[in-house]
Amino acid sequence: MTYGVEEFQRRTPGSRTAWERAAKLIPGGVGSAIQFKPPYPLMIGDSKGSKVWDVDGNEYIDYSLCYAAMVAGHGTVALEILEDVPDADVLVVGVGGGGLIAGVATAAKARRPGARVIGVEPAGANAMRRALDAGVPVRLERIDTIADGLAAPIAGTLPLEIVRRLVDDVVVVDDAVIAEGVRFLAQRAKLVAEPAGGAAVGALLAGAVRVRRGERVVAIVSGGNVDASRLADILRG
Ligand SMILES: Cc1ncc(COP(=O)(O)O)c(C=O)c1O
Repeated sequence: MTYGVEEFQRRTPGSRTAWERAAKLIPGGVGSAIQFKPPYPLMIGDSKGSKVWDVDGNEYIDYSLCYAAMVAGHGTVALEILEDVPDADVLVVGVGGGGLIAGVATAAKARRPGARVIGVEPAGANAMRRALDAGVPVRLERIDTIADGLAAPIAGTLPLEIVRRLVDDVVVVDDAVIAEGVRFLAQRAKLVAEPAGGAAVGALLAGAVRVRRGERVVAIVSGGNVDASRLADILRG
């Protein structure tokens, strides 16, 4: 049995507005791409967080990661990319809790179904990769990465569902690869990226993302919030 959007809404009192707002932002609607299967009964929450349950029935609060409106907002990144690069073949995205890539994948696959969406996670914060492999969200006991923007302890429940269905792969890279991405962006593109923002570029430079000759590839540089001394350390190598 799968839960369709109606069942999802019935189970999520108060979510209708957020859902509808989200659906308007994504061509075809967020829900058009998503079916919810047990064991993932989940709720869209509000600023107080969302109640979710794991397979053992344990209840916990998942702040904002299950917020469909937020995922839809992230989707506008892909919409803007595809306006500028309508023939993009591959979109590479850093992954923390997974909201960003979930939105990007939902919008990209709706607009350009043949495009591949690849996630990049730090080896020291690989919650999405672990969740994909395990089939359920896995809470990391330890996080160790320079990419603090990607350092989520657990994949968001809604992002995980979307990533399972729409994302082509999530690759894991170590911090040296991420640092190389930050250096390359500074030296060659004159862009200040934080480690989370440089992860996609680093993964491409390291060959961690498989790309075919002639493909149009977009690396999403998602942020530049890095303090000067940390940036200096990274640039020094
Ligand atoms: C700069 C940057 N890039 C990427 C991400 C990853 O987003 P998400 O946690 O939705 O996967 C974050 C998350 O905070 C971020 O700060």
